[in-house]
Amino acid sequence: MTVAQLRALHAAGRWSIEGEEFLDDWMLQQRCGRNDAVTETIGILGRKGSGKTTTASVLAEELLAAKVPVAIIDPTDAWWGLRSSKDGKEEGFPITVLGGDHGDAPLEETAGKVIAELLAEEAPPLVLSLGNLSKSAARRFVADFCERLYEKNRTALHLVIDEADEFAPQRIGKGMERTFGAVDTLVRRGRVRGIGVTMVTQRSAAINKDVLSQCEVLIAHRTSHPRDLDPTLEWMRVHATAEQLELVRASIAHLANGEAWVMSPQWLSFFDRVQMRDRTTFNSSATPKAGERRIVPKRLAQVDLQLLQTKMKDTIERAKATDPNLLRRRVMELEAQLAKAPKAATAAKEKRVEVPVLKEGQLKRIEAAIEKLDHIRDRMAQAQQVVVGEVDVLRQALERVRAPGVAVFKPIAPRPQPAPRPPPPRRAAANGEQPDDGMGKGEWVILRAVAQHEQAGVTREQLTVLTGYKRSSRDTYLQRLLQREYVQVLGMNAIFATDAGRRALGPDFEPLPTGAALLDHWRQKLPQGELAVMEIAVAAWPEPVDRERISEATGYQRSSRDTYLQRLRSRQLVLDAGRGQVRASDTLFNGATA
Ligand SMILES: Nc1ncnc2c1ncn2[C@@H]1O[C@H](COP(=O)(O)OP(=O)(O)OP(=O)(O)O)[C@@H](O)[C@H]1O
Ligand SMILES: [Mg+2]
Repeated sequence: MTVAQLRALHAAGRWSIEGEEFLDDWMLQQRCGRNDAVTETIGILGRKGSGKTTTASVLAEELLAAKVPVAIIDPTDAWWGLRSSKDGKEEGFPITVLGGDHGDAPLEETAGKVIAELLAEEAPPLVLSLGNLSKSAARRFVADFCERLYEKNRTALHLVIDEADEFAPQRIGKGMERTFGAVDTLVRRGRVRGIGVTMVTQRSAAINKDVLSQCEVLIAHRTSHPRDLDPTLEWMRVHATAEQLELVRASIAHLANGEAWVMSPQWLSFFDRVQMRDRTTFNSSATPKAGERRIVPKRLAQVDLQLLQTKMKDTIERAKATDPNLLRRRVMELEAQLAKAPKAATAAKEKRVEVPVLKEGQLKRIEAAIEKLDHIRDRMAQAQQVVVGEVDVLRQALERVRAPGVAVFKPIAPRPQPAPRPPPPRRAAANGEQPDDGMGKGEWVILRAVAQHEQAGVTREQLTVLTGYKRSSRDTYLQRLLQREYVQVLGMNAIFATDAGRRALGPDFEPLPTGAALLDHWRQKLPQGELAVMEIAVAAWPEPVDRERISEATGYQRSSRDTYLQRLRSRQLVLDAGRGQVRASDTLFNGATA
């Protein structure tokens, strides 16, 4: 997109943030003159009826108003309303609708490649309504379309994929591989070919997380089920502070229609709760209400179908000219002719045929460079994690140096414990994890985690992973436990329970099981990602296993894989074995050593 188009986009922009111009924030204040909006990757999530299609339509309206080509993959036949005004009385945008009940022309399931070529050459705005195709036909269409678009497109184009989990699911079933591969490539590498993608889904749990992780902007509408909320929080967790995550977690189930949390950590450096503006075009995705008379738009914007027909005819002819099956048949026909008329064939052979040469080499080089940069970015993210951890350790060491009366750099000999007091009377428990009197639940949970790791002690960071408490609560509880002398810090950073602490835990405290029972315990308890990674290390034990092998076996990208490994290390379930390898902890196998 050119700067002039960007300015036009801004002039047309009314995506409001509480009365302000959304695009003001998006385009001008933040990144005036950057020409990458159209080629960006955007994710729009939220439960049914929360406003996802409306938000995506608003984005499409803005792009169309700025004469930026937009194509929409529309599995629910909900997008044709872009052609008419809000009340259906005026024209909307001249966008051609192919397929569905309101199409200008039907959409053949075999037309994916031809339509992609048309888009790449002429860039007419298109709604591709798959509403009348079967699920498998729609997937085949999308595979053909995305593959060919990636191959041929060279100018800026924005593709919206509504119900994107249909085409890029987390579980890639049999027969889905090609469709997923085509969408994945488009999302991952489309930018070099001028293609940006907006993915819309109400099934956050079902959309492919590797694809979702490519988004530069996440727009999270109302979500209530934890299963669908987790992917949103997971996506945001990489960059958000604990407070920001808490804000999202506490409010996301109560957002109004059209309201969303918008986060773009790098591209826009933006995080806020946003009320999207309503669409200016006809709401063709509105759910019919009982007794309501449906408005049927009276005026639709004119589209140049003649041009489309001619172009499609040209494109189809050209497609035929390069179709391998047709070519093979043609070769056979020619060979037959050749056998009959050898002289004529010789003459034909001498004729020079000009073949257009595509500069694929240049593209290949760019793609290789991007791959390298991807790799470097992952390495930098890992390094950043390590630095953040180290800074945390140093900060805590400094705090302890400043705290009067606490030795830091040499191990503190365990203090003589006061004479055992009789265990305090216990209150009835609502959840079986009731603290003893005087000790709050948070302190009890932290103390339990410390006592369960009495061999090596735990660090503060490990406590966060083990208990889920954010840093400030964790430190508050720890401080109280230190004051009561229920825990002690030995060496630089290892926290251990004291005898008094173990007594204070009371009879409800269960140490972690050992050996095979410990493995079972974690198999019940670990979240899916960590579990999958742990199982690979467990299967390889006592041998170490390559990180790359874990990625291959689980399908997790480097960054997710390393996050899971980091958490498993915190739980002392895997250890670094050097040279990019990790090993399952011996404690999972009856304490036997390898
Ligand atoms: N920004 C908005 N301003 C005003 N109303 C809105 C806005 N967004 C959504 N709505 C209202 O909410 C309804 C549902 O919106 P929409 O169809 O966009 O939801 P959706 O999340 O795509 O739903 P589904 O999951 O069923 O496809 C719309 O018909 C409209 O009435
Ligand atoms: Mg929708």
